[in-house]
Amino acid sequence: MSRAVSNLQIDSARLWDTIHETAQFGATPKGGVRRLTLGPEDKQVRDWFRKACEAAGLEVHVDALGSMFGLRKGRDMSKAPVGLGSHLDTQPTGGKFDGVLGTLAALEVVRTLNDAGIETETPICIVNWTNEEGSRFAPAMMASAAYVGDFTTDDILSRRDAEGVTVGEALDGISYRGATPVGTQKFSSFVELHIEQGPILEAEAKTIGVVDSGQGVLWYDGKIVGFESHAGSTPMPLRRDALATLAEIVLAMESIAKKHGPNAVGTIGEAVIAAPSRNVIPGEIAFTVDCRSADAGIMDALDKDLRAAIAGIAARRRVEVTLDLVWRKPPTHFNPKLVDAVETAAEALGYSHRRITSGAGHDACNLNTRIPAAMVFVPCKDGVSHNELEDATQADCTAGANVLMHTVLALAGVAS
Ligand code: HGY
Ligand code: MN
Ligand code: MN
Repeated sequence: MSRAVSNLQIDSARLWDTIHETAQFGATPKGGVRRLTLGPEDKQVRDWFRKACEAAGLEVHVDALGSMFGLRKGRDMSKAPVGLGSHLDTQPTGGKFDGVLGTLAALEVVRTLNDAGIETETPICIVNWTNEEGSRFAPAMMASAAYVGDFTTDDILSRRDAEGVTVGEALDGISYRGATPVGTQKFSSFVELHIEQGPILEAEAKTIGVVDSGQGVLWYDGKIVGFESHAGSTPMPLRRDALATLAEIVLAMESIAKKHGPNAVGTIGEAVIAAPSRNVIPGEIAFTVDCRSADAGIMDALDKDLRAAIAGIAARRRVEVTLDLVWRKPPTHFNPKLVDAVETAAEALGYSHRRITSGAGHDACNLNTRIPAAMVFVPCKDGVSHNELEDATQADCTAGANVLMHTVLALAGVAS
């Protein structure tokens, strides 16, 4: 690779400006971003992204689940492109960087290659994956999961949010149900840049995380059926209190995750009382569970222990509890060749780096089940994410985008 290319750097100010420009779509008073998938704010950022891709000379197409692909021609168009990208949807209390950094850094790579007049040997293709967060519609990383064949397009189109709106209706509502069948766009490999969403890189003052693995994920939908009765006249021993039952389940989840720690986590993130009233003992509650571990054996142990704990609590409290496993994502082991390519790029650029396991799930984890994939991490402030205080530095975002660019150039090759 020529010296000019190996010294190529992205335009740091431009990347930083685009991150802050798109943060306006769903901006919250606390400085975060609330941009739930397929909602009006997601449409705004999608329209912005499409225009920016077209202005950068990319051929844009949208697939049947709304994922957006921007293709940059290479010298040899007979070869499958190298993919790079992430997601633009956020959590309800999301931040400016989760997913956004990886998607806009991919755009910045294209802009930098355009400015430098560099043609890659194979094409490259940038991606905004629909509904990575899984907050409005389950599961998380939904569109990339359908892309690799874990779910059919029709199954995903029929998934409903808490208001009963389907994915298909939401796509039509923002005019992003594309004509291209899911899976049409092929890739030779895929690289994703993301903030770490954890404390390790910052604590060790490392600029780059070379991600070689990712935790497996278990998602459950739970339901507790007790018995509504008068809060004043029902003696304590006679109650079948669904909320008190859930309280015990939450603490059981916490102690089970600690028992299998440090490589295990467990969270109950949603709980809805069917007919809440101050003076009625809660009779019915729906709740969700998220358990994770990088070790498949520990995932099985979490499942077994949680089910056993719930059975004991339900029997003692004379309530019914159902727990349905709605998503199981095995642990990820990224492609060693690509992981090495990320490490080589970080080394050549002179950035401090270390290998790291991803605690969060990412679209690259799905892609990796079908094609070689890898990830680049950069630190985020205090390791905080899925919180409006999420923050990262311009220097670290720039470093991550440079490692992404040089990894992609190594994979795609430079024609001129
Ligand atoms: O849940 C996850 O790990 C991702 O942030 N959607
Ligand atoms: Mn993300
Ligand atoms: Mn996220």
